[in-house]
Order: sequence, then C-alpha cells, then structure tokens
Amino acid sequence: MIELEKNYTPVIWVTGATKGIGLATANAFAAIGCKIILSGRNKNQLEVNARRIIDQGGFALPLVCDVTSEKNVRSAYATINKKVGDVDVLVNNAGVSIFESFEKTSVKEFDTIVATNLRGFFLCTKVVIPAMLKHKKGHIINIHSVSATTLFYDSSAYSAAKAGALALSRCLRLEVRKKGVRVVDVLPGAVETDMWNKSVRKKYHSKMMQPEDVADAIVSIYCQPQRLTTDEIVLRPVEGDL
Ligand SMILES: NC(=O)c1ccc[n+]([C@@H]2O[C@H](COP(=O)([O-])OP(=O)(O)OC[C@H]3O[C@@H](n4cnc5c(N)ncnc54)[C@H](OP(=O)(O)O)[C@@H]3O)[C@@H](O)[C@H]2O)c1
Repeated sequence: MIELEKNYTPVIWVTGATKGIGLATANAFAAIGCKIILSGRNKNQLEVNARRIIDQGGFALPLVCDVTSEKNVRSAYATINKKVGDVDVLVNNAGVSIFESFEKTSVKEFDTIVATNLRGFFLCTKVVIPAMLKHKKGHIINIHSVSATTLFYDSSAYSAAKAGALALSRCLRLEVRKKGVRVVDVLPGAVETDMWNKSVRKKYHSKMMQPEDVADAIVSIYCQPQRLTTDEIVLRPVEGDL
C-alpha cells in the first residue's frame, strides 16, 4: 500500500478525465487518497465520474475545460485555485487522434490534433508552472505516445503533435528540474480505449493494454521516493506494437 505524506492531501488535475486513460488515472489517484480535479468537455460524464469518487469517500471536482481554449484553461485553473488550492500534479492527458494518410488529412483535422495534443499541453502546463516554481515542488505528467518516436502509417498529424509535445516537455524538464519541479513523459503503446474503433478493439483486445495499466504506472511514478524522478517511461503491450 502506497502511503502519502502525513497531514497533506495532494491535488491532482487530470485533463481528458471523461473516459479512457484520463478517467483511470483520476480513479487511481483517488484510490490513494488524493483530491482529484477532473476536466474535459463532456460535463455530464465528468459529473458522473466525480460522483463515483465522492461516493467512495474521496474528493473530486468536475470542471468543463476545452484544452484548446486559453480562456477555458485559465478559468479552470482560477476555479481550482479558489475551490481547492495549488495543483501538486498536472496530468496532461487530453488528446485526440485520427488514423488517416497524410494525403487525406484535412487542414481542419491537423489543426485540431495539434491544438489538443500540443497546444493544449502547453496551455495547461503554463498555468500551473508559476506556483510550482514558487513552491519548488510539483509534477507535470504528460501522456504522449510511442507515436512520438516510432513511425506508423496513417499517423502523421498525430505523430507530429506528440513528437512536438515530447520535445516541449524535454525542454521544460531541463529548465525546471533544478527548481524542484518533476516533468515525467509517459509514452504508451496501444491501450484499449475509444481512441480505437470497435473493429480494431475486437481484433486486438487480447494484445492491447488497459487504461488502468497506464494509470497504475503513473501513480507508482508519483509515489517514488523524493530522491529520484522518472524522466521518461515507455509502456508497450508484451507483444509490441499492433
Ligand atoms: N489509446 C491509446 O492507444 C493511446 C496510446 C498512446 C497514447 N494515448 C494518449 O492517451 C491520452 C488519452 O487517450 P485515450 O486513449 O484515453 O482516449 P479517449 O478514451 O478517447 O479519451 C480522450 C480524452 O481526451 C479528452 N479530450 C479530447 N479533446 C479534448 C479537448 N479539446 N479538451 C479537453 N479534453 C479533451 C476527452 O474528453 P471530452 O471528449 O469529454 O473532452 C477524453 O476524456 C491521449 O493523449 C492519447 O493521445 C493513447
């Protein structure tokens, strides 16, 4: 059983917490007694997810926040500050993907993918960083993808956004690691979530990781002894990529 610091309840903000890896991560942090901020665009689902945590004796605050909107992100952070306080851990998880050739990828699709996976990560990180630097502590945990470093067909826009986010994150780590802030890059392979269509999930079910697998890895990284940090972790199904 993992134990948190006595008399202190960490505040964890998980973006994209309506379902999939984000929801599993929110639940996993709630299970070790953290206060959870769940954000995403689907208000009803966020409320259902938060209610489940609260019913089990935990603390959860559902917040509508589209990570592509600077205004939304700033206002979500102001609400968190007002209602809960500083954020100890930001899990940048919100993401979208399309499986499409370069030729068929529209400008609109490209913009959405970059705005969510790269710009959204920048915006959310930007609002939490000043307080983390001031207090000389905090975790920024970023959910990238093996697509950031491995080439796949029909994945150019997604890979570009994830590779950009990974580069941004590595630079950020360089700048903040001596100031007490830990930046952790998580690169998962295939996880069985709504990101994949039904036929892929059916065909590869036994070969895919589950959202809880990624969530458990994230929580165990957070709970590592203070003297160390995990810079980067790659999680793949045992048999490798699909
Ligand atoms: N599944 C995989 O195989 C896999 C592998 C590697 C990495 N990843 C990464 O893991 C992360 C989570 O994906 P998932 O597999 O759990 O997919 P998912 O089940 O489709 O969940 C995606 C989450 O992102 C949220 N989201 C999307 N656009 C958003 C926006 N503009 N603002 C705020 N939230 C937004 C969605 O919530 P709303 O729709 O309510 O906003 C949802 O909660 C993504 O960054 C993805 O790239 C996934």
